[in-house]
Amino acid sequence: MRDLVAVFDFGSQYAQLIVRRVRELGVYAEIVRHDISKSDLMGIFPCALVFSGGPSSVLAPGHPEVDPEIMELNIPTFGICYGMQLVARFLGGKVEKGNSGEYGPASIEVVGAQSIFYGLGPCLDVWMSHGDHVVGLPEGFHILAGTASCPMAAIGNDEKKFYGVQFHPEVVHTPKGKDILGNFLYRVAQCKGGWTMSAFIEECTRDIRNRVGDSTVICALSGGVDSAVTAAMVNRAIGTQMQSIFVDNGLMRTAEVNEIRSLFSSSYPLNLTVVDACDRFLHNLKGITDPEEKRKIIGETFIQVFREEAKRLENARFLAQGTLYPDVIESSSAHGGPSSTIKSHHNVGGLPDEIGFELIEPFRYLFKDEVRLLGRELGLPDKLVFRQPFPGPGLAIRILGEVTSENLAVLRKADIIVQEEVKKHDGYRDIWQSFAVLLPVKSVGVMGDERTYANVVALRVVTSVDGMTADWVKLPYEVLGRISSRIINEVKGVNRVVYDISSKPPSTIEWE
Ligand code: XMP
Repeated sequence: MRDLVAVFDFGSQYAQLIVRRVRELGVYAEIVRHDISKSDLMGIFPCALVFSGGPSSVLAPGHPEVDPEIMELNIPTFGICYGMQLVARFLGGKVEKGNSGEYGPASIEVVGAQSIFYGLGPCLDVWMSHGDHVVGLPEGFHILAGTASCPMAAIGNDEKKFYGVQFHPEVVHTPKGKDILGNFLYRVAQCKGGWTMSAFIEECTRDIRNRVGDSTVICALSGGVDSAVTAAMVNRAIGTQMQSIFVDNGLMRTAEVNEIRSLFSSSYPLNLTVVDACDRFLHNLKGITDPEEKRKIIGETFIQVFREEAKRLENARFLAQGTLYPDVIESSSAHGGPSSTIKSHHNVGGLPDEIGFELIEPFRYLFKDEVRLLGRELGLPDKLVFRQPFPGPGLAIRILGEVTSENLAVLRKADIIVQEEVKKHDGYRDIWQSFAVLLPVKSVGVMGDERTYANVVALRVVTSVDGMTADWVKLPYEVLGRISSRIINEVKGVNRVVYDISSKPPSTIEWE
């Protein structure tokens, strides 16, 4: 059986990062609520526990705690910042409020190099971010490292296998932080490691086969990375027992539908039905200009089409979706509700629960870059695996005002120029999204000796880590100039191009 590390979330902004670091070290990790019961915890058989940091103080009434019975299980435990203070206090140590707190880089002197600091040298740069600190050791603990202002920067009890650090080993500003975590996992907790993408694929294949039996699984393909890799994964497990459905809503970019069709019919063959619903979507969107109304109509039309298609299939008990870990844990905080709520807009087409399928979500516990790696491992081409995110409502939310086939044609032409030119730019891999927006504004221009009165296109090019915040990219003037000149010259109906220099927040990435 594989190792599993349970990362207790005390509301730290870094809990996800801890999980990632542990997985990068070859050990599977999952976030659990800090108040998980002993029996629930034992249900997942953790080989080690990590207690995250958090914004609370163990000195404040009502601070987040751990089921005391868990502390008696004697599972190797690593406490970070708040997690260290919690363990120390629970076991009889003393925690105090610091005079001013300590935030930023610090250098610790290592005095105990046998366990978590093994082989890392006498002095380490670390990242501190704390108000309280441990000032009295619990029985059986000793100091492993300290600084002038924080003499108990790392403590441990080798017999109990409990360790705590006041700094954050999970952030990149602690250069040897991963080695410290690695020492805890392999030297202290004796993890076996070996969690790799190919091991994950094998495990996932077995799980899907066992769960599905001889039923049929439907997979809604959107053309995005998550649903495509989901389809490839389920296809690997059950082959023709999966039926994937791609609804062509007429709102895709140039050649996108054909690319999907050809990818999944020739290079990566799987059972695929492409449903041509272009007219239906355009008909339903006729005369609609309000962004929210557009989104609602697109969502409802998608569900209607999907339901009709699903009815044709026999024994279709399951629906496979590309839900990712951040979607799952976004609603789970140290003080918040249970972690099972999934934000529906993250699911392909926003399929509602009452659609009546059991869900298969093989990537519920993976991050986006892990899914990309998996996609590669499953043999999907980089072109698909590394493609930029594209919104479910497609080009409809990049045409401000009414969506018509004429507007769609103009935007598609402008968009392809943006893609071509931005791809030539060196920083392409750092760009989160780059696209054109068709504005419902006309302006006067002059072409040759003729007056023109035509549309304005806006360029949106942003960097982002997760789409929650974003910044506009300082594209070189030459790149901007080439895009502008090509759009104005090559796309009939456009005589002006503007560059969007707004960050998110307060703007959003898409214009609608
Ligand atoms: P905003 O515009 O909210 O976008 O800053 C953040 C990220 O989400 C994408 N986006 C969507 N993706 N369905 C999706 O699957 C949607 O309805 C949707 N709306 C926005 C957007 O492209 C950006 O990456």
